[in-house]
Amino acid sequence: MLIKNKKRSDCSESEVTPKTIYLNRRQFMKASSGIVLGVGGSNVFAALQGGNPLTPPTPVKQAFSQIIQTPYGSSETPAPYDVATTYNNFYEFGYGKGDPSERADNFKTRPWTITVEGEAENTGTFDLDDIIKTSALEERIYRHRCVEAWSMVIPWVGVSLGDVLKRFKPTSKAKYVYFETLYDPKQMPGQNSGSIEWPYREGLRIDEAMNPLAMFTVGMYGSILPNQNGAPVRLVIPWKYGFKGIKSIVKIRFVETMPLTTWSSLAPGEYGFYANVNPNVDHPRWSQSQERRLPGGVLFPNVIDTQMFNGYEEEVASLYSGMDLKRFF
Ligand code: MTE
Repeated sequence: MLIKNKKRSDCSESEVTPKTIYLNRRQFMKASSGIVLGVGGSNVFAALQGGNPLTPPTPVKQAFSQIIQTPYGSSETPAPYDVATTYNNFYEFGYGKGDPSERADNFKTRPWTITVEGEAENTGTFDLDDIIKTSALEERIYRHRCVEAWSMVIPWVGVSLGDVLKRFKPTSKAKYVYFETLYDPKQMPGQNSGSIEWPYREGLRIDEAMNPLAMFTVGMYGSILPNQNGAPVRLVIPWKYGFKGIKSIVKIRFVETMPLTTWSSLAPGEYGFYANVNPNVDHPRWSQSQERRLPGGVLFPNVIDTQMFNGYEEEVASLYSGMDLKRFF
């Protein structure tokens, strides 16, 4: 994976959101709306954090007005919206961290369908909004750790991936699940070039996909996903490096054998299928023992220790018991 020197995210210390502001926001929302975060809540968030979360389109407005607050990450301080939406990896729109926010404005995310194939009883093509409308959306604040050794805290909106996958009734032969991003070089200029074989592909073992932490994500900061963050739907697998969080998903396939994935095909010695965050297994070209928590900058690099499974060890370590994590990286 490329590491570029990023200028857009080199924020000054004054841009770091003080925890008191964030905690006040959560108290405000609890006081004003019980356990439900409404669109009003996200607007308060935007005012405090800078930036403008998008307005949900009519068919899913109702679902977004009833986001359930969860205890996940309630003590964490999310990155300002502006940082999370201008410092991105989405190579379909270019390799620079600022390219996706500059080039994805006209990306068409509705109507949006997902084709479900393979080892499942309920296959076919499904409208994403029908899935959203029948889901109880949750806000979960997760640590987001990129293999490039930067990280952010982001309040995502979505549902457990397992709950969505169960709707398709995977058979006992479904040992893995494979995901694919849209292939549309007219809309995604990055797909016209580069060394990646498009579309972007990812996969999980079925028990990883069913772990309650794995998230089918349709929003962030209380509203829908901005295009640069993977609209209209992406994965968020918080104990894994960010590249497992495939964006703009159009295909889900239940399969018997481990699927080929973009980064592990491109550089198998550098990026494994599992890609669990692990401070004890370095990338061949850099250490994974620490990370730059964004926002940060030259004067305030904000380097912190990386945690095993990104701090989600209790929830996910049992998935890998008996496995040599240096071999299965
Ligand atoms: N999905 C697609 N389709 N294309 C990409 O280039 N980049 C991955 C992942 N999902 C990527 C993708 C990487 S390397 C990371 S770190 C995260 O998206 C970044 O998510 P963010 O931009 O929302 O922080």
